[in-house]
Amino acid sequence: MMHIELLTFSQLKRGDIEKYVSIWNSEFPITISRLTKESFYKKVQNKEIIFLVARNKNSDLVGFLELQKIDENVAWFIMAIHKKYQLKGIGSKLIKKAKELVKELHGWIIPPGECLFKQDFSLYRSPLLFYKKNDFAIGKMKRTKKGSYLEIIWKRE
Ligand SMILES: CC(C)(COP(=O)(O)OP(=O)(O)OC[C@H]1O[C@@H](n2cnc3c(N)ncnc32)[C@H](O)[C@@H]1OP(=O)(O)O)[C@@H](O)C(=O)NCCC(=O)NCCS
Repeated sequence: MMHIELLTFSQLKRGDIEKYVSIWNSEFPITISRLTKESFYKKVQNKEIIFLVARNKNSDLVGFLELQKIDENVAWFIMAIHKKYQLKGIGSKLIKKAKELVKELHGWIIPPGECLFKQDFSLYRSPLLFYKKNDFAIGKMKRTKKGSYLEIIWKRE
C-alpha cells in the first residue's frame, strides 16, 4: 500500500528529512549539490514550500515532490523517488496531485544526452520522457558550468 500526503515543512514527521536527504543524494547526479540535513533546513527555511510525500506501508518516505508557489496559480517543483520504488507509477501520482494545486507547473531537468553519474556510479537517466508522458511541454535551455538544464512546463487547459 502506498499513500500520498500533503505537508508543510513543520508537518514533516521524524525520519522524513533523513529519507529526503538520502533520496536526493542517491537519485540525482553527483553534479547536483550534495544535501545534508543542515543544507536542507537552509534550503527550505523561510519559504512556503509544500511537500507531497509518498509513503510505503510502513509509513516511510519513499518519494517526494517539493513545490514552491511563485504566485496563486504558478509553482516550481522538484521531485525524486527512491530507486526501489521507481517505475511503479508513484512519480505520476505525485504529479497528478501537484496539478490539482496550481494551474501551471515549472521545473528544471537534465536533458537526455548528458552523461552524468549517480552516487553509486550508475548512469543518471534523464526524466524527459517521464514528463512528456505526464503532458509537460519543453521550455528554455539553461547552460551552466556544471551542465545544461531544460525547463519543463505544464499548463492547465
Ligand atoms: C523521474 C521520476 C520522478 C519518475 O518517477 P517514477 O515513479 O519512477 O515514474 P512512473 O512510474 O510514474 O512513470 C514511469 C514512466 O516514465 C518513463 N520514464 C522516462 N524516463 C524515466 C526516468 N528517468 N525514470 C523513470 N521513468 C522514466 C518510464 O518508462 C515509465 O513509462 P511507462 O509507464 O510507459 O512504462 C523518478 O524515476 C526519479 O526519481 N528519478 C530520479 C530523480 C529525477 O530525475 N527527478 C526528476 C527531476 S525534477
